[in-house]
Amino acid sequence: MNVYDSERMADILSPHGYSLADQPDEADLVILNTCHIREKAAEKVYSELGRMRRTQQARRAQGSDMTIAVAGCVAQAEGSEIIRRAPVVDMVFGPQTYHRLPEMLAQLDREGARRKIVETDFPVEEKFDTLNSAGNHGGVTAFLTVQEGCDKFCTYCVVPYTRGAEFSRPVPDVLAEARRLAGAGVREITLLGQNVNAYHGEAADGRNWSLGRLIREIAGISGIERIRYTTSYPSEMDRDLISAHAEVPQLMPYLHLPVQSGSDRVLEAMNRRHTAAEYLALVEQIRAARPDIALSSDFIVGFPGENQRDFEATMELVANVGFAQAYSFKYSARPGTPAAAMPYQIDEAEKSDRLQILQQLLNEQQQAFNAACVGQDFDILFEKPGRGAGQIVGRSPYLQPVHIEGTADLIGNITQVRITAHSANSLSGTRVVDRDATPLDSTRQAGARA
Ligand code: 5AD
Ligand code: SF4
Repeated sequence: MNVYDSERMADILSPHGYSLADQPDEADLVILNTCHIREKAAEKVYSELGRMRRTQQARRAQGSDMTIAVAGCVAQAEGSEIIRRAPVVDMVFGPQTYHRLPEMLAQLDREGARRKIVETDFPVEEKFDTLNSAGNHGGVTAFLTVQEGCDKFCTYCVVPYTRGAEFSRPVPDVLAEARRLAGAGVREITLLGQNVNAYHGEAADGRNWSLGRLIREIAGISGIERIRYTTSYPSEMDRDLISAHAEVPQLMPYLHLPVQSGSDRVLEAMNRRHTAAEYLALVEQIRAARPDIALSSDFIVGFPGENQRDFEATMELVANVGFAQAYSFKYSARPGTPAAAMPYQIDEAEKSDRLQILQQLLNEQQQAFNAACVGQDFDILFEKPGRGAGQIVGRSPYLQPVHIEGTADLIGNITQVRITAHSANSLSGTRVVDRDATPLDSTRQAGARA
């Protein structure tokens, strides 16, 4: 979502004479878009600001200047504290204020060094009225935010505080943005939201549409050949969304469905509103709808009070499900969240041990999944030139990067590839050429050129 938000900031500033600089030292304005989810991410902001300060000094020595701004969830959570810790910062603004960016910059221009700007309001609806994706910055895949914020209040998580309450963008806005993206050559859209499957945007008929309904409609947009959505909350996977996986061919057979822990005791302390058994039953339903679906998940180890047995329950859940990919983290106490004040915080060494054990199993599962892809034919959407000469890179339905020997004219095309090898994080293969070109292929090529 931060990638999407950064693109929207670039879009909104472009009519005001700003364009993207390749390097920070070429920039009149630097915006650090920040993440507050774990302490490590939040602390990175200050080391980055130290670097920015030196860049600013170098620019000043050459007679130019540089405005430094901090956006995103660290800005929202820490506000003016950022300026206190790093006086080099001129502007701090939270995720719900990006549409006001031109106004804030104009104000800074007027008032100069006399004032710093701190904006941390929550006018979400107004934001989405102004911020729209102007194009797709040349890519064949794009993100599209349909939902923002979270009302779930997992006890470890800052998102409900930094991004605010759940908000669904109205259906007509989402469809207009999807059509614009399709017109600009985008072939794959990833619908975004902190709780994307809690989507309930208002449609033109005054009714609220679920995510499943929205996906079916987007699948009807000419040019959109792949749809994904992330991130989902287990108990919000409704029947309609699950059946969309069976019925909508554009919906990719890959789902990120965070579970966090396999222990009911820990899940309850996390306020996760689902048990391990409910998660497993859900996975079964999803697999019944779409047998070739691959799953990915998020895990937290070392949540306060997590004992060895709880951790083993997580290992057992992982062994039961079999994930194609996963993200796992050591619990990080975040200021202001209920879990930060819970007793029985786990020490760092124990968290590291558990993380290592869990990651080993998750890595083995990922390797096994990648290995099982070898010998299969996949439709690959080619996105860009590869690192090696004569190589191009695309994505499989399961989001794995796939390298082949090929020419740039394949970019924007979906092409059948036989997978011949796998490495830790990617696949390689050769094009299956003996397929008749269909009229759809020529449309794709036209889209790619556009
Ligand atoms: N500590 C560790 N991991 C966290 N996450 C969210 N908050 C925390 C925290 N305080 C993880 C969860 C979530 C992912 C985006 O980040 O696993 O799904
Ligand atoms: Fe955070 Fe996700 Fe829980 Fe919301 S559902 S509080 S975003 S972990």
